[in-house]
Amino acid sequence: MDTPVILKTFHKGKIKEYFVMPEGDLHTDLGIIRLDELKVKSPGDIISTHLGFDFVIQKPKPPDFFKHAKRSGAPMMPKDIGQIISSTGLSCSDSVLDAGTGSGILAIYLGSIAKKVVSYEIREEFINIARQNIILTGLSNIELRFGDIVTEIQTLDEKFDVITLDTIDAARVVPQVPAVIYPGGYLAVYSPFFEQAKEVRDAIGKTGFTEVRIFETIEREISFSDRGTRPSTTRVGHTGFITIARY
Ligand SMILES: C[S@@+](CC[C@H](N)C(=O)[O-])C[C@H]1O[C@@H](n2cnc3c(N)ncnc32)[C@H](O)[C@@H]1O
Repeated sequence: MDTPVILKTFHKGKIKEYFVMPEGDLHTDLGIIRLDELKVKSPGDIISTHLGFDFVIQKPKPPDFFKHAKRSGAPMMPKDIGQIISSTGLSCSDSVLDAGTGSGILAIYLGSIAKKVVSYEIREEFINIARQNIILTGLSNIELRFGDIVTEIQTLDEKFDVITLDTIDAARVVPQVPAVIYPGGYLAVYSPFFEQAKEVRDAIGKTGFTEVRIFETIEREISFSDRGTRPSTTRVGHTGFITIARY
């Protein structure tokens, strides 16, 4: 293997995990792991520290990239990504237009399902971080483009099945969406604030979409302990509002 892997063990009642490349040494409190040994191992195999603690090797999936990939800004949370994927019915025959790329986390989830993802990012330093993250996934169907989606969308001569917008100025992009979306395609917009969601809703209202819904997703994790089972007292608070519209 010459791609990143997850090394995972269960120690003193807790999962301990590392996201590593197969080179050099990894110093852990359970001993040193010679990562070069990963080159002749496969997912599911065991690798041991010099103190004899075993770690199982796993192939990283998109949730691992959410946890471990380098970040430029706030990536979209998996709970919200899941809603976008289910609400748009994203499938392996779909092509997706995404903006802004940010850390590339949404693009990585979309790219692991869709046929193709084209993702625009306005900041060059962010696109470089996203590119590195995407290279590590091994996905070859995500094309990153540098530019402002507000103007770049007007130059596109291709169409998409799904369009995802996670930019502060998404309402300015909405009027251009009909020119680049297949009939029956879905638009998904992520807005951290009510004000942005309202602007997006107003823009959608003037643009000929149907089946418009705005919602937020609330995730309640359940905690288990000797004392009992209940919703966790620490939880993810507000993240953003999701607007879904069909063309
Ligand atoms: C919240 S982040 C996106 C996070 C991303 N969805 C992820 O999961 O990693 C918003 C990104 O949009 C970019 N952006 C803002 N306005 C843009 C525009 N008009 N065109 C392209 N990118 C834009 C920002 O630079 C920032 O990186």
